[in-house]
Amino acid sequence: MSDIRHLIRTSDFSTQEIITLFHNALDYKQLLMSKTPTHQPLKHKNVITIFFENSTRTLSSFELAVKNLGGDILRLDVSRSSTSKGETISDTAANLNAMNPDAIIIRHRNAGAGYYLSAHVNCPIINGGDGAHSHPTQALLDLLTIIEHFGLEELQTLKNADTIAPFAPLDSIKGKKIAIVGDVVNSRVANSNIELLTRFGMEVILVAPPHFLPQTSLRTSDNLKAIAQEVDVIMSLRTQTERHDQVIYGSLKDYASRFCVTKEIVGDNPCIILHPGPVHRNIDIDDEVLKDSRSKVLEQVTNGVCVRMAALDFLIA
Ligand code: NCD
Repeated sequence: MSDIRHLIRTSDFSTQEIITLFHNALDYKQLLMSKTPTHQPLKHKNVITIFFENSTRTLSSFELAVKNLGGDILRLDVSRSSTSKGETISDTAANLNAMNPDAIIIRHRNAGAGYYLSAHVNCPIINGGDGAHSHPTQALLDLLTIIEHFGLEELQTLKNADTIAPFAPLDSIKGKKIAIVGDVVNSRVANSNIELLTRFGMEVILVAPPHFLPQTSLRTSDNLKAIAQEVDVIMSLRTQTERHDQVIYGSLKDYASRFCVTKEIVGDNPCIILHPGPVHRNIDIDDEVLKDSRSKVLEQVTNGVCVRMAALDFLIA
């Protein structure tokens, strides 16, 4: 059996590996912040990015992460690739594999695309988002942002992998409540976060109109105003209009009137507010809250580069 590791879902990494990954990500962050060059574990390594869905943050974040580690990027232009001429994804994969890349980062509208690809290649596959299924590096950067706020000191004390519990390893995070708000049923970000955050002992509450909720055993609510007062973290999600077959809400304005994260909704709760981007301003989160110091949306973007550097280093080097 091949010992190549992939990152298709958050459950591909053990809790112990995630803690080590976060230590490394924070080391990278310090170096990046002080403009100190990092070591170059990806020198002479080639990483292919192939994104069949649009992306601003994730693609540039991965590419910057590869460059920061000294690696080379080959970005496959999907509009010009042979997949658009009818080649199957497994044939595209076999051809990419024949170029001997050191990793392939893929985003695809179909759930399972990365998993499927991993059967056809001899290098790590990193899932940059597959349909509504999974977006593991987004959930990892979200959790790192939460830990940085509530449990940084405790994280730093967890150095010895043997002592790290597989469930709820950080007391400062365990029992913290997070509201995941919006189009949960269509969100790969929500899916990955539900697995990861519950593994770290957080209580996840899904807040959405009924047609945006999946079948779940988690607590649910359609009353953001009430829930916002009792949580430590609010994670707002974009309405995934591209994944809707039909318009299933009156209008985005109606939706926003109940689910937009506003100053009034947050009140003086000292919680933090997250969003994976792209934000629909004044529909997901209003302008004022985005400017508030409780909003960690840009911190998430910074952490994204560092988490991806640590993941690439772990999987490739
Ligand atoms: C998310 C995605 O593409 O899954 N964005 C991201 O990766 N930063 C969320 C979204 O598109 O709404």
